[in-house]
Amino acid sequence: MTAFELTRLLPGDHFAQALRADVRHGLTAPAKSLPPKWFYDKRGSELFEDITRLPEYYPTRAERAILTARATEIAQATKARTLVELGSGSSEKTRLLLDALRTLGTLDTYVPVDVSESALREAGHALAADYPELAVHGVVSDFTASLALPRAVHGPRLVAFLGGTLGNLLPVERAGFLSALRAELSHGDALLLGTDLVKDPAVLVAAYDDAAGVTAEFNKNVLNVLDRELQAGFDPDDFDHVALWDAEQEWIEMRLRSRRAQRVPIPALGLTVEFAAGEELRTEVSAKFRRERVAEELHAAGFALRHWWTDPEGRFGLSLAEPV
Ligand code: SAH
Ligand code: TRP
Repeated sequence: MTAFELTRLLPGDHFAQALRADVRHGLTAPAKSLPPKWFYDKRGSELFEDITRLPEYYPTRAERAILTARATEIAQATKARTLVELGSGSSEKTRLLLDALRTLGTLDTYVPVDVSESALREAGHALAADYPELAVHGVVSDFTASLALPRAVHGPRLVAFLGGTLGNLLPVERAGFLSALRAELSHGDALLLGTDLVKDPAVLVAAYDDAAGVTAEFNKNVLNVLDRELQAGFDPDDFDHVALWDAEQEWIEMRLRSRRAQRVPIPALGLTVEFAAGEELRTEVSAKFRRERVAEELHAAGFALRHWWTDPEGRFGLSLAEPV
């Protein structure tokens, strides 16, 4: 059995420093916000897996349906020797790609990249056991900070970015990310991109505000991360989960709304943060796309859209693009 290898590509104190900078900046700004990557500690990664199984959260099932129908076509179009996946999480849907590339016989290495070391370890061990001929090389990294990959990963490379995670970046961040990714790729490589699509706002809001309250718990988990890592004094019960559709930006916005006026100490930063009653902290956006917007953003970054697939109900889009 091929062993599972794990590499940390960023300096040892990167995440501690980045969290401090993000919290200081985001919680002292007039409109408070935090970047979404801080949701995903061990508990956050587990809660996200629970979200993917909720009746209201259709994106995972829709994307899986497309991958099931198209994996063979994707394998034949890319003939990938290395599959790199950004924000790989549990790598569950990825198995459809691994199976198709195994059948084709081109793949030798899978490189899952994630901020969540616990998710990477769990997925990596399971995959190494189930795909003994495959080298599984996990990378703990932040794809918004660096797209560097371990040693020379052999081409042709297929970079998968699934789950609609691109939509969690703000438009200006998306443009920077796609350009940086394009710069890492060569002729013959490919990008497989999953994007959730614009639809009935009631369906969208329910996907981010489920009846069982799992998404609320996931959203509030970022406060537990701040309490643990920065000795902050947040009580998650002092905040309400808010999900709303911004029709102009075409994104879902996730917020935490302070139930009362409060002052929250963050000793590690020598800071006390004030919340007015009803004041909101933005924790995430999840942009919803149309085909033209995906094609345009890819084009602007130096990619050409070669294939566009949706599930039968047209809820989710999967793009196969190549560098031009
Ligand atoms: N691809 C999986 C998981 C999507 S959830 C799926 O489709 O189900 C988003 C994943 O991206 C999580 O595993 C999270 O830990 C990871 N992630 C979020 N921001 C990240 C960042 N900046 N760098 C690396 N990984 C990130
Ligand atoms: N990439 C996922 C999405 O935008 C992440 C996600 C799902 C999420 N549900 C969430 C993030 C709830 C924050 C809160 O759909």
